Amino acid sequence: MNFQLTEEQLAVKEAARDFAQTELLPGVIERDEKQVFPRELINKMGEMGFMGMMVDPKYNGGGMDTISYVLAMEEISKVDASASVMMSVNNSLVCWGLEKFGTEEQKQKYLTRLATGEVIGAFCLSEPEAGSDATSQHTTAEDLGDFYLLNGNKNWITNGKNAYVYIVMAQTDREKGHKGINTLIVEQDMEGFVVGKKEDKLGIRGSDTHQLNFNDVKVPKENRIGDDGFGFKFAMGTLDGGRIGIAAQALGIAAGALELAIQYSKERKTFGKPIHMHQGIGFKLAEMATKIEAARNMVYKAAWMKDQGMDFSQQAAMAKLYASDVAMEATVEAVQIHGGYGYVKEYHVERLMRDAKITQIYEGTSEIQKIVISRGLTRD
Ligand code: CAA
Ligand code: FAD
Repeated sequence: MNFQLTEEQLAVKEAARDFAQTELLPGVIERDEKQVFPRELINKMGEMGFMGMMVDPKYNGGGMDTISYVLAMEEISKVDASASVMMSVNNSLVCWGLEKFGTEEQKQKYLTRLATGEVIGAFCLSEPEAGSDATSQHTTAEDLGDFYLLNGNKNWITNGKNAYVYIVMAQTDREKGHKGINTLIVEQDMEGFVVGKKEDKLGIRGSDTHQLNFNDVKVPKENRIGDDGFGFKFAMGTLDGGRIGIAAQALGIAAGALELAIQYSKERKTFGKPIHMHQGIGFKLAEMATKIEAARNMVYKAAWMKDQGMDFSQQAAMAKLYASDVAMEATVEAVQIHGGYGYVKEYHVERLMRDAKITQIYEGTSEIQKIVISRGLTRD
């Protein structure tokens, strides 16, 4: 067992930390308030190599391992979880799925641009009536020979407006159940595709979350990923990796809250001493740090297992389940440690607390992670 990061991994971590501090921190409160994320910042993230970290260099990616990716996710999430969710969707749901399951033509056409951040991607599984119950897709992709005719609505889509490439799951043959679902690549300018309502959210407000409508969109057959009926397995297989990204996001939010809480507890004095010297506060910090360390080990292990080519589905679910709970707990404690100052925007921890909540919901709620884990435990 080796717990030591390589020189390259440490350099990625340092670069991400530096980027987060210099580029993301300055406008993060304003972006949260205004619910915007400027294109120039996405471009900068692309230039830094954060949008296609694990993609093979022959498709313009960084060729890095999953550990490097989670290190970068952690550092960026400490400061701006809106930036990190855009990054996570692009890296682990869109680029990874395309690279693993796409055709060479699809990789040349889409992956090469997604990996640099020239365009960004969205992953469109959830619908108004199909979130956790993802097999009950209402969106249809009717097979009409050379193309699919796509009709329906998707909900809650991250990068909904900013994306150009949309990975869309839809039902082709209802009688076949989940084996009748296909995954199609839709471009934003395809006729009949409309970006709908923007959601006004509790947290990760800088990231754009939209409804999407598909009205008789003609999607060429060559835009299907995998064989006919592979769409649901594509979604599940891709989400396994995505959950590592969100677990790393949760870890970063928690670790960011701890860093702020430690710093504040050394500066703030009550009853003649810094508040960390009161055992009530010191113990809070100790518990936060211990749980964050446990979460970190779980996230890194899931990433390592993926890099080793092992089955990491359960480990990813466990890491997300645990790290998201730790994110919620640590951010609530960080607000408490800041007292009244924790309740105002200037001190960042209230935003981290709002951002933490989503990690227990998206890419499979905590209850769904428990289903994945318990089924794995009892499978013969
Ligand atoms: N990899 C590959 N295939 C898998 C799989 C995996 N990890 N998990 C399941 N499958 C396959 C199964 O083997 C099965 O195929 P067979 O019948 O051929 O064996 C098929 O998928 C259906 O599986 P289940 O019978 O287990 O399906 P289910 O209806 O019981 O649902 C579920 C399983 C785990 C609950 C699944 O529906 C699920 O994960 N739901 C949550 C959806 C989700 O995570 N959405 C996230 C949207 S993206 C997002 O949120 C992005 C963001 O916010 C930023
Ligand atoms: P439901 O499935 O209706 O669940 C409601 C409650 O019931 C939850 O607590 C759930 O855990 C519980 N529950 C449901 N079934 C069971 C069960 N069998 N056992 C026990 N409890 C159960 N989706 C995408 O496809 N792409 C995206 O980019 C994307 N981004 C998102 C961004 C944001 C900000 C948000 C809020 C959501 C995003 N989602 C995205 C959707 C997200 O994945 C879903 O919201 C999530 O999977 C839950 O689905 P639901 O909201 O329909 O809740």
